[in-house]
Amino acid sequence: MGPVEIKKGVYWVGALDWNIRDFHGYSTPLGTTYNAYLVVDEKIALFDTVKRPFKNDLIECISKIIDPRRIDYLVVNHVEMDHSGSVPDFVELAGPEKVICSPMGKKALIDHYNRPDWPYQVVETGQTLSLGKKTATFLETRMLHWPDSMMSYIAEDKLLVSSDGFGQHWATSQRFDDQVDASELFRHAAKYYANILLVFSPLVQKLIAKVGEMGIEIDMIAPDHGLIWRKDPLGIIEAYGKWSRQESRKKAVVVFDTMWQATERMAGAIAEGLQEGGLDFKLLNLKTSHRSDVMTEVLDSAALVIGSATINNGMMPAVADLLSYMKGLRPVGKVGAAFGSYGWSGEAVKLVSEAMQDMKINLIGEGVRVRFSPKKEDLDRCVELGRQVAQAVLNLISPKTSGL
Ligand code: FEO
Repeated sequence: MGPVEIKKGVYWVGALDWNIRDFHGYSTPLGTTYNAYLVVDEKIALFDTVKRPFKNDLIECISKIIDPRRIDYLVVNHVEMDHSGSVPDFVELAGPEKVICSPMGKKALIDHYNRPDWPYQVVETGQTLSLGKKTATFLETRMLHWPDSMMSYIAEDKLLVSSDGFGQHWATSQRFDDQVDASELFRHAAKYYANILLVFSPLVQKLIAKVGEMGIEIDMIAPDHGLIWRKDPLGIIEAYGKWSRQESRKKAVVVFDTMWQATERMAGAIAEGLQEGGLDFKLLNLKTSHRSDVMTEVLDSAALVIGSATINNGMMPAVADLLSYMKGLRPVGKVGAAFGSYGWSGEAVKLVSEAMQDMKINLIGEGVRVRFSPKKEDLDRCVELGRQVAQAVLNLISPKTSGL
């Protein structure tokens, strides 16, 4: 794809990855983008590069505007290799006067590429880089997404180059939020938040507060993945505020894996009880629902009900996978319960319950276990569990946060 001017003298020069389907465990059925930005002023600066297999796309895109060897400064906002993978080739080709990064960024670049000889200039929060008419101000954003991460702000354009923050994994030929369906865009942004940033929610809150303290005016947010926010930059900041507070609504996720459909039938009965109790619900079978899509649904859910058949004295592998993944992302403030069928030993419900307790999920009861196939009275117990979970949610959610 060719360059796109996003502000006068500022160009998107990234790459589209239409075919990636797994991003370190996160499903990307619609691909992603690696965004890089070129600022052409009295000095010329490139903000970030792209994943290494796309280095030619980057160079060709830049070449449509200027000779890449004219670039004076390379700003490395983030060292994860989807953004820094082309840095060695770029430095070799362009020989920039400075490679600008955070203190942790310099360490990470040397750890990755073993090039202590590059012309580093280390910057900290509040430090600036004059490009002529425009000035970049740097804002360290440690752990959003790595310790080295930072954002760059160009005050003259009210432009925040936000690295991983505010991104989406969605490959599109359009570059701006107002060129795509807004609800689909926010769905991708929510999935990205739930699977990449949820664990760092307290830091997201601090970042939003810091941006407020610094009095930064934002007219456009240009992330390193997905669409650029030019119509609704404040909308995505507000969404980050809500997601980072882990505000939930009257909604439950029932997620399970099943062996011979007994646990699946139990899930359906639990959902019936949730509905009777006044909750919206999602019923997700792990044979067809990816862990990262489950996490997206968990993001705004007040309750989580997890089911597993017992296999070899344990839980189903897909349930163990989900619990391990979810634990790392640290959802907070949920109520929940476990359920599942078994044949003779039946450990899965206890093990799932323990894993949920470990995540500080407030368990409602000891869960429901059913031997082999559920009878009517077993399904009635499942419906009742759904009702109890719904009641616990209604007790937990105040009218203000539930939108009543
Ligand atoms: Fe898009 Fe943390 O890299």
